Amino acid sequence: MDVVPAAIDDALRRTIANGGRVCVLTGAGMSAESGLPTFRGTHDSLWSRFDPMRLATAEAWREDPALVWGWYRWRMRLVRDAQPNAGHRALAALAQRVPLSLVTQNVDDLHERAGSIVDAHVHGSLFALRCFACGRAHDGPLDDYVDGVQRIEPMRCAACGDRIRPGVVWFGEALPEAAWASAVSAAGRCALMLVVGTSGLVYPAAGLPALARRHGATVVEINPEPTALSAEADHVWRTTAAQALPLLVR
Ligand code: APR
Repeated sequence: MDVVPAAIDDALRRTIANGGRVCVLTGAGMSAESGLPTFRGTHDSLWSRFDPMRLATAEAWREDPALVWGWYRWRMRLVRDAQPNAGHRALAALAQRVPLSLVTQNVDDLHERAGSIVDAHVHGSLFALRCFACGRAHDGPLDDYVDGVQRIEPMRCAACGDRIRPGVVWFGEALPEAAWASAVSAAGRCALMLVVGTSGLVYPAAGLPALARRHGATVVEINPEPTALSAEADHVWRTTAAQALPLLVR
């Protein structure tokens, strides 16, 4: 598919002509063409290889912080070794042409490294380290990178001595209030929402497209596979982020 479907092209043109806002909601599929594993859907996805309940919960951390920290250091290493793809770059370019709010479920920094301003990291950020107990931000040096997944004893908080955790939202934890408020505002104000690379399975983030539609937005899904959100989309474009977004911007 090397052209933008007419209905999607029309929706974007209409939004620009009317001075409307675009809200983009991205998920792990946005970073797939940068070589980062998604959580679901393929044989090498993270949750097909690792148990989220043993790695992405506060209980897992309490039980074995070195296992959890080692896994996240491995994911940080993957992100550091990855580059933003053409889809990330296209979104940064689109923001120069139309008022755009970027809401991401991703904890990587590839949108920022492509030049985007991210309005909301609704599931936090890998590199936003903080103390598990007192919450103090840790912007000190990181222990050196490791190869593969191994147990690494977490660094300690300079203020209270408890362990430093990754700044991601674990299952069962509340979303960062400011990020969530920003995401809801962006979804409620936009005329067009592009939903890119998310399976739409994890709430409340997966509820943002329905919220946008309730406020009159046109919702477009860009995803090579059908998802739980496909039925809510006004238009679906069965292709990948790095193929679709540069065409859309062009
Ligand atoms: N371009 C666009 N979409 C893609 C691509 C691609 N190149 N490759 C895969 N996809 C799609 C898949 O079809 C799937 O629908 O990306 C989606 C990835 O879904 P998930 O792996 O479930 O990722 P995501 O939706 O972001 O997960 C939501 O779950 O585990 C939690 O906190 C984690 O933020 C994450 C949340």
